Amino acid sequence: MNHRIYNFNAGPATLPLLVLEAIREEFLDYKGSGMSIIEVSHRSKWFDDVMEDTSARIKRLMKLGNDFHVLFLQGGASMQFCMVPMNLLPEGRSADYVNTGTWATKAIKEAQILGKKVNVAASSEDKNFSYIPRDISYTPDAAYVHITSNNTIKGTQWAAFPDTKGVPLIGDMSSDILSRSFDPSPFGLIYAGAQKNLGPAGATLVIVRDDMLKRVPKGLPSMLKYTTFVEKNSMYNTPPCFAIYAIQLVLKWLEETVGGVEKMETINQEKAALLYKALDKSGFYSGTAEKGSRSLMNVTFRLPSEDLEKRFVQKALENGLTGLKGHRSVGGCRASIYNSMPVNGVKALVEFMETFARRNG
Ligand SMILES: Cc1ncc(COP(=O)(O)O)c(C=O)c1O
Repeated sequence: MNHRIYNFNAGPATLPLLVLEAIREEFLDYKGSGMSIIEVSHRSKWFDDVMEDTSARIKRLMKLGNDFHVLFLQGGASMQFCMVPMNLLPEGRSADYVNTGTWATKAIKEAQILGKKVNVAASSEDKNFSYIPRDISYTPDAAYVHITSNNTIKGTQWAAFPDTKGVPLIGDMSSDILSRSFDPSPFGLIYAGAQKNLGPAGATLVIVRDDMLKRVPKGLPSMLKYTTFVEKNSMYNTPPCFAIYAIQLVLKWLEETVGGVEKMETINQEKAALLYKALDKSGFYSGTAEKGSRSLMNVTFRLPSEDLEKRFVQKALENGLTGLKGHRSVGGCRASIYNSMPVNGVKALVEFMETFARRNG
Protein backbone atom coordinates (compact mmCIF):
# COMPACT_ATOMS: atom_id res chain seq x y z
CA MET A 1 0.00 0.00 0.00
CA ASN A 2 1.37 3.41 -0.94
CA HIS A 3 1.89 6.03 1.73
CA ARG A 4 0.63 9.16 -0.03
CA ILE A 5 0.02 12.37 1.90
CA TYR A 6 -1.53 15.67 0.83
CA ASN A 7 1.29 17.87 -0.40
CA PHE A 8 0.72 21.65 -0.28
CA ASN A 9 4.25 22.59 -1.34
CA ALA A 10 4.62 25.55 -3.70
CA GLY A 11 6.85 23.79 -6.22
CA PRO A 12 8.01 21.18 -6.90
CA ALA A 13 4.47 20.27 -6.04
CA THR A 14 1.98 17.46 -5.95
CA LEU A 15 1.20 15.64 -9.22
CA PRO A 16 -1.83 13.52 -10.14
CA LEU A 17 -1.57 9.98 -8.81
CA LEU A 18 -2.68 8.70 -12.23
CA VAL A 19 0.36 10.35 -13.79
CA LEU A 20 2.79 8.88 -11.27
CA GLU A 21 1.26 5.46 -11.79
CA ALA A 22 1.51 5.78 -15.57
CA ILE A 23 5.19 6.70 -15.26
CA ARG A 24 5.80 3.69 -13.02
CA GLU A 25 3.86 1.42 -15.34
CA GLU A 26 5.92 2.18 -18.44
CA PHE A 27 9.20 3.15 -16.83
CA LEU A 28 11.25 0.05 -17.64
CA ASP A 29 9.88 -0.59 -21.11
CA TYR A 30 8.55 2.48 -22.88
CA LYS A 31 6.00 1.45 -25.50
CA GLY A 32 7.75 -1.80 -26.32
CA SER A 33 11.14 -0.13 -26.90
CA GLY A 34 12.80 -2.27 -24.23
CA MET A 35 14.16 0.99 -22.80
CA SER A 36 13.02 3.64 -20.39
CA ILE A 37 11.91 7.00 -21.77
CA ILE A 38 14.96 8.47 -20.00
CA GLU A 39 17.21 6.15 -22.01
CA VAL A 40 15.89 6.62 -25.56
CA SER A 41 17.47 9.14 -27.92
CA HIS A 42 15.82 12.53 -28.09
CA ARG A 43 16.10 12.09 -31.87
CA SER A 44 14.08 8.86 -31.77
CA LYS A 45 10.53 8.41 -33.01
CA TRP A 46 9.49 7.72 -29.39
CA PHE A 47 10.65 11.08 -28.14
CA ASP A 48 9.56 12.91 -31.30
CA ASP A 49 6.04 11.71 -30.62
CA VAL A 50 6.24 12.87 -26.99
CA MET A 51 7.36 16.35 -28.07
CA GLU A 52 4.75 16.68 -30.78
CA ASP A 53 1.88 15.46 -28.62
CA THR A 54 2.89 17.66 -25.66
CA SER A 55 2.97 20.82 -27.81
CA ALA A 56 -0.32 19.90 -29.49
CA ARG A 57 -1.99 19.41 -26.10
CA ILE A 58 -0.74 22.81 -24.86
CA LYS A 59 -2.14 24.44 -28.02
CA ARG A 60 -5.51 22.74 -27.63
CA LEU A 61 -5.83 23.32 -23.89
CA MET A 62 -4.88 27.00 -24.14
CA LYS A 63 -6.72 27.56 -27.43
CA LEU A 64 -3.60 29.00 -29.03
CA GLY A 65 -3.79 30.11 -32.64
CA ASN A 66 -1.24 29.04 -35.25
CA ASP A 67 0.67 32.27 -34.66
CA PHE A 68 1.95 30.88 -31.34
CA HIS A 69 5.03 28.65 -30.94
CA VAL A 70 5.25 26.26 -28.00
CA LEU A 71 8.80 25.78 -26.73
CA PHE A 72 10.43 23.81 -23.94
CA LEU A 73 13.57 25.42 -22.57
CA GLN A 74 15.80 24.97 -19.54
CA GLY A 75 17.06 27.35 -16.88
CA GLY A 76 13.72 27.72 -15.10
CA ALA A 77 11.40 30.71 -15.19
CA SER A 78 14.36 32.66 -13.77
CA MET A 79 16.18 32.30 -17.09
CA GLN A 80 13.23 34.00 -18.77
CA PHE A 81 13.79 37.06 -16.58
CA CYS A 82 16.85 37.77 -18.74
CA MET A 83 15.85 36.09 -22.02
CA VAL A 84 12.70 38.21 -22.36
CA PRO A 85 14.49 41.60 -22.33
CA MET A 86 17.49 40.23 -24.29
CA ASN A 87 15.23 39.06 -27.10
CA LEU A 88 12.25 41.38 -27.01
CA LEU A 89 13.40 44.76 -25.72
CA PRO A 90 15.26 46.52 -28.54
CA GLU A 91 17.88 49.22 -28.00
CA GLY A 92 16.41 52.65 -27.50
CA ARG A 93 13.02 51.41 -26.29
CA SER A 94 11.71 50.75 -22.81
CA ALA A 95 9.45 48.14 -21.27
CA ASP A 96 6.78 48.46 -18.58
CA TYR A 97 6.90 46.10 -15.61
CA VAL A 98 4.24 45.72 -12.93
CA ASN A 99 5.90 44.89 -9.64
CA THR A 100 3.71 42.54 -7.61
CA GLY A 101 6.33 40.78 -5.50
CA THR A 102 9.55 38.82 -5.35
CA TRP A 103 9.41 37.28 -8.83
CA ALA A 104 8.44 40.48 -10.60
CA THR A 105 11.21 42.28 -8.67
CA LYS A 106 13.69 39.69 -9.94
CA ALA A 107 12.43 40.07 -13.51
CA ILE A 108 12.95 43.85 -13.26
CA LYS A 109 16.43 43.40 -11.79
CA GLU A 110 17.58 41.10 -14.59
CA ALA A 111 16.40 43.55 -17.27
CA GLN A 112 18.26 46.32 -15.47
CA ILE A 113 21.46 44.25 -15.21
CA LEU A 114 21.36 44.07 -19.01
CA GLY A 115 21.25 47.88 -19.11
CA LYS A 116 17.72 47.86 -20.50
CA LYS A 117 15.30 50.74 -19.93
CA VAL A 118 12.65 49.60 -17.47
CA ASN A 119 9.64 51.56 -16.28
CA VAL A 120 7.96 50.25 -13.15
CA ALA A 121 4.45 51.09 -14.32
CA ALA A 122 2.80 50.07 -11.05
CA SER A 123 3.79 48.42 -7.80
CA SER A 124 2.06 47.06 -4.72
CA GLU A 125 5.19 47.30 -2.60
CA ASP A 126 3.57 50.05 -0.47
CA LYS A 127 1.35 47.39 1.14
CA ASN A 128 3.83 44.55 1.21
CA PHE A 129 2.61 43.24 -2.17
CA SER A 130 -0.73 42.22 -0.69
CA TYR A 131 -2.76 43.37 -3.71
CA ILE A 132 -2.76 43.64 -7.50
CA PRO A 133 -2.39 47.28 -8.57
CA ARG A 134 -5.27 48.83 -10.50
CA ASP A 135 -3.68 52.08 -11.67
CA ILE A 136 -0.94 51.41 -14.16
CA SER A 137 1.10 54.23 -15.75
CA TYR A 138 1.86 52.84 -19.15
CA THR A 139 4.70 54.36 -21.18
CA PRO A 140 3.57 55.31 -24.67
CA ASP A 141 5.28 53.02 -27.15
CA ALA A 142 6.55 50.51 -24.55
CA ALA A 143 8.07 47.39 -26.12
CA TYR A 144 5.94 45.22 -23.82
CA VAL A 145 4.18 45.12 -20.45
CA HIS A 146 5.46 42.40 -18.10
CA ILE A 147 3.21 40.95 -15.41
CA THR A 148 3.35 38.01 -13.01
CA SER A 149 -0.10 36.46 -13.31
CA ASN A 150 0.03 34.75 -9.92
CA ASN A 151 2.31 35.73 -7.08
CA THR A 152 3.31 32.45 -5.51
CA ILE A 153 4.84 33.94 -2.37
CA LYS A 154 2.31 36.66 -1.50
CA GLY A 155 -0.77 34.74 -2.62
CA THR A 156 -2.17 37.33 -5.03
CA GLN A 157 -3.38 36.81 -8.60
CA TRP A 158 -4.61 38.98 -11.47
CA ALA A 159 -8.35 38.26 -11.67
CA ALA A 160 -8.42 39.81 -15.15
CA PHE A 161 -5.46 40.85 -17.27
CA PRO A 162 -4.83 44.55 -17.92
CA ASP A 163 -5.86 46.13 -21.20
CA THR A 164 -2.57 47.39 -22.66
CA LYS A 165 -4.15 48.78 -25.84
CA GLY A 166 -2.21 46.60 -28.20
CA VAL A 167 1.17 46.66 -26.41
CA PRO A 168 2.15 42.97 -26.08
CA LEU A 169 1.74 41.48 -22.63
CA ILE A 170 4.47 39.23 -21.30
CA GLY A 171 3.23 36.89 -18.59
CA ASP A 172 5.16 34.95 -16.00
CA MET A 173 2.51 32.27 -15.43
CA SER A 174 4.72 29.88 -13.50
CA SER A 175 2.23 29.30 -10.74
CA ASP A 176 -1.13 29.43 -12.51
CA ILE A 177 -0.60 28.21 -16.06
CA LEU A 178 -3.53 26.05 -17.23
CA SER A 179 -5.47 26.73 -14.04
CA ARG A 180 -8.06 28.93 -15.80
CA SER A 181 -9.07 29.95 -19.27
CA PHE A 182 -8.16 33.32 -20.80
CA ASP A 183 -7.73 34.91 -24.19
CA PRO A 184 -4.07 34.42 -25.15
CA SER A 185 -4.13 36.87 -28.08
CA PRO A 186 -2.86 39.99 -26.18
CA PHE A 187 0.19 38.03 -25.01
CA GLY A 188 3.44 38.31 -26.96
CA LEU A 189 5.03 35.70 -24.71
CA ILE A 190 4.03 33.51 -21.78
CA TYR A 191 6.48 31.54 -19.68
CA ALA A 192 6.19 29.08 -16.82
CA GLY A 193 8.57 26.86 -14.90
CA ALA A 194 7.04 23.37 -15.03
CA GLN A 195 7.27 22.41 -11.38
CA LYS A 196 3.87 23.69 -10.19
CA ASN A 197 0.99 23.09 -12.57
CA LEU A 198 2.76 21.25 -15.38
CA GLY A 199 5.02 18.52 -14.06
CA PRO A 200 8.48 18.05 -12.56
CA ALA A 201 11.24 20.68 -12.45
CA GLY A 202 13.66 20.87 -15.34
CA ALA A 203 11.60 22.22 -18.22
CA THR A 204 10.29 25.73 -18.79
CA LEU A 205 7.33 26.25 -21.06
CA VAL A 206 7.65 29.29 -23.33
CA ILE A 207 4.81 30.30 -25.63
CA VAL A 208 5.86 33.00 -28.06
CA ARG A 209 3.81 34.83 -30.68
CA ASP A 210 5.34 34.75 -34.12
CA ASP A 211 5.50 38.53 -34.62
CA MET A 212 7.70 38.88 -31.52
CA LEU A 213 10.47 36.87 -33.16
CA LYS A 214 11.28 39.74 -35.53
CA ARG A 215 12.73 41.57 -32.54
CA VAL A 216 15.31 38.92 -31.65
CA PRO A 217 18.75 40.49 -32.19
CA LYS A 218 21.19 38.57 -34.40
CA GLY A 219 24.12 38.97 -32.01
CA LEU A 220 22.73 36.85 -29.17
CA PRO A 221 24.32 33.50 -28.30
CA SER A 222 22.34 30.63 -29.86
CA MET A 223 21.20 29.15 -26.56
CA LEU A 224 19.71 32.48 -25.49
CA LYS A 225 17.70 33.17 -28.65
CA TYR A 226 14.05 32.16 -28.97
CA THR A 227 14.50 31.77 -32.72
CA THR A 228 17.02 28.95 -32.19
CA PHE A 229 14.41 26.89 -30.37
CA VAL A 230 11.60 27.79 -32.77
CA GLU A 231 13.70 26.70 -35.77
CA LYS A 232 14.75 23.43 -34.13
CA ASN A 233 11.43 22.54 -32.50
CA SER A 234 12.98 22.90 -28.99
CA MET A 235 15.66 20.37 -29.94
CA TYR A 236 18.66 22.53 -30.80
CA ASN A 237 20.38 20.67 -27.99
CA THR A 238 19.24 17.78 -25.78
CA PRO A 239 15.93 18.84 -24.21
CA PRO A 240 14.86 17.90 -20.66
CA CYS A 241 13.32 14.64 -21.94
CA PHE A 242 11.97 13.22 -18.71
CA ALA A 243 10.33 16.47 -17.63
CA ILE A 244 8.66 16.92 -21.02
CA TYR A 245 7.40 13.32 -20.99
CA ALA A 246 5.90 13.84 -17.51
CA ILE A 247 4.31 17.11 -18.68
CA GLN A 248 2.73 15.19 -21.56
CA LEU A 249 1.09 12.84 -19.04
CA VAL A 250 -0.13 15.72 -16.87
CA LEU A 251 -1.68 17.37 -19.94
CA LYS A 252 -3.31 14.08 -20.93
CA TRP A 253 -4.79 13.88 -17.42
CA LEU A 254 -5.99 17.48 -17.68
CA GLU A 255 -7.62 16.92 -21.07
CA GLU A 256 -8.99 13.42 -20.68
CA THR A 257 -9.62 12.88 -16.96
CA VAL A 258 -10.45 16.40 -15.76
CA GLY A 259 -12.06 17.41 -19.05
CA GLY A 260 -10.14 20.57 -19.96
CA VAL A 261 -9.17 23.95 -18.57
CA GLU A 262 -12.72 25.25 -18.03
CA LYS A 263 -13.55 22.22 -15.87
CA MET A 264 -10.24 22.66 -14.04
CA GLU A 265 -11.06 26.30 -13.38
CA THR A 266 -14.39 25.38 -11.78
CA ILE A 267 -12.66 22.86 -9.53
CA ASN A 268 -9.94 25.37 -8.65
CA GLN A 269 -12.58 27.95 -7.72
CA GLU A 270 -14.33 25.40 -5.54
CA LYS A 271 -11.11 24.46 -3.73
CA ALA A 272 -10.08 28.08 -3.12
CA ALA A 273 -13.59 29.00 -1.93
CA LEU A 274 -13.52 26.21 0.65
CA LEU A 275 -10.22 27.39 2.04
CA TYR A 276 -10.92 31.13 2.05
CA LYS A 277 -14.30 30.54 3.66
CA ALA A 278 -12.61 28.58 6.44
CA LEU A 279 -10.09 31.40 6.94
CA ASP A 280 -12.67 34.16 6.97
CA LYS A 281 -15.08 32.60 9.42
CA SER A 282 -12.47 31.38 11.88
CA GLY A 283 -11.46 34.53 13.79
CA PHE A 284 -8.20 32.63 14.33
CA TYR A 285 -6.56 32.60 10.91
CA SER A 286 -6.13 35.75 8.84
CA GLY A 287 -5.60 35.82 5.08
CA THR A 288 -2.69 38.06 4.03
CA ALA A 289 -3.86 39.02 0.53
CA GLU A 290 -6.52 41.66 -0.10
CA LYS A 291 -9.83 40.01 -0.85
CA GLY A 292 -10.13 41.26 -4.45
CA SER A 293 -6.60 40.04 -5.25
CA ARG A 294 -6.68 36.60 -3.69
CA SER A 295 -4.95 33.76 -5.51
CA LEU A 296 -6.79 30.57 -6.38
CA MET A 297 -3.45 28.75 -6.33
CA ASN A 298 -1.51 29.90 -3.26
CA VAL A 299 -3.53 30.69 -0.15
CA THR A 300 -1.42 32.66 2.34
CA PHE A 301 -2.42 33.18 5.95
CA ARG A 302 -1.20 33.92 9.45
CA LEU A 303 -2.01 32.55 12.87
CA PRO A 304 -2.09 34.66 16.05
CA SER A 305 1.63 34.01 16.78
CA GLU A 306 4.74 32.56 15.15
CA ASP A 307 4.82 29.85 17.81
CA LEU A 308 1.33 28.78 16.82
CA GLU A 309 2.35 28.81 13.16
CA LYS A 310 5.24 26.44 13.90
CA ARG A 311 2.94 24.18 15.86
CA PHE A 312 0.32 24.32 13.08
CA VAL A 313 2.82 23.19 10.44
CA GLN A 314 4.09 20.41 12.70
CA LYS A 315 0.65 19.14 13.70
CA ALA A 316 -0.53 19.28 10.08
CA LEU A 317 2.35 17.03 9.11
CA GLU A 318 1.38 14.57 11.83
CA ASN A 319 -2.06 14.56 10.19
CA GLY A 320 -0.78 13.80 6.70
CA LEU A 321 -0.71 17.39 5.39
CA THR A 322 2.70 18.68 4.30
CA GLY A 323 4.22 21.86 2.83
CA LEU A 324 2.18 24.43 4.73
CA LYS A 325 5.03 26.68 5.83
CA GLY A 326 5.06 30.09 4.14
CA HIS A 327 7.97 31.09 1.89
CA ARG A 328 11.13 31.62 3.93
CA SER A 329 11.19 35.33 2.98
CA VAL A 330 7.76 36.11 4.46
CA GLY A 331 6.96 33.49 7.11
CA GLY A 332 3.38 32.62 8.00
CA CYS A 333 1.58 29.75 6.30
CA ARG A 334 0.73 28.95 2.72
CA ALA A 335 -1.34 26.23 1.12
CA SER A 336 -0.54 25.74 -2.56
CA ILE A 337 -3.57 24.17 -4.17
CA TYR A 338 -2.50 23.74 -7.77
CA ASN A 339 -4.46 21.78 -10.39
CA SER A 340 -3.29 18.42 -9.07
CA MET A 341 -4.42 18.98 -5.48
CA PRO A 342 -7.70 17.07 -5.16
CA VAL A 343 -10.77 18.65 -3.58
CA ASN A 344 -10.50 16.02 -0.85
CA GLY A 345 -7.04 17.32 0.04
CA VAL A 346 -8.46 20.80 0.60
CA LYS A 347 -11.35 19.36 2.61
CA ALA A 348 -8.87 17.49 4.81
CA LEU A 349 -6.93 20.70 5.33
CA VAL A 350 -10.06 22.68 6.24
CA GLU A 351 -11.09 20.03 8.73
CA PHE A 352 -7.64 20.06 10.29
CA MET A 353 -7.64 23.87 10.47
CA GLU A 354 -10.98 23.91 12.26
CA THR A 355 -9.83 21.36 14.82
CA PHE A 356 -6.51 23.19 15.34
CA ALA A 357 -8.28 26.53 15.86
CA ARG A 358 -10.71 25.00 18.38
CA ARG A 359 -7.89 23.49 20.39
CA ASN A 360 -5.53 26.45 20.27
CA GLY A 361 -7.81 29.49 19.98
C1 LIG B 1 5.81 33.24 -10.29
C2 LIG B 1 7.18 32.63 -10.31
N1 LIG B 1 8.08 33.06 -11.21
C3 LIG B 1 9.32 32.54 -11.26
C4 LIG B 1 9.73 31.55 -10.39
C5 LIG B 1 11.11 30.99 -10.51
O1 LIG B 1 11.04 29.77 -11.12
P1 LIG B 1 12.30 28.83 -11.39
O2 LIG B 1 12.67 28.24 -10.07
O3 LIG B 1 11.76 27.84 -12.37
O4 LIG B 1 13.38 29.66 -11.98
C6 LIG B 1 8.82 31.06 -9.46
C7 LIG B 1 9.22 29.98 -8.53
O5 LIG B 1 8.58 29.65 -7.57
C8 LIG B 1 7.52 31.61 -9.41
O6 LIG B 1 6.63 31.19 -8.51
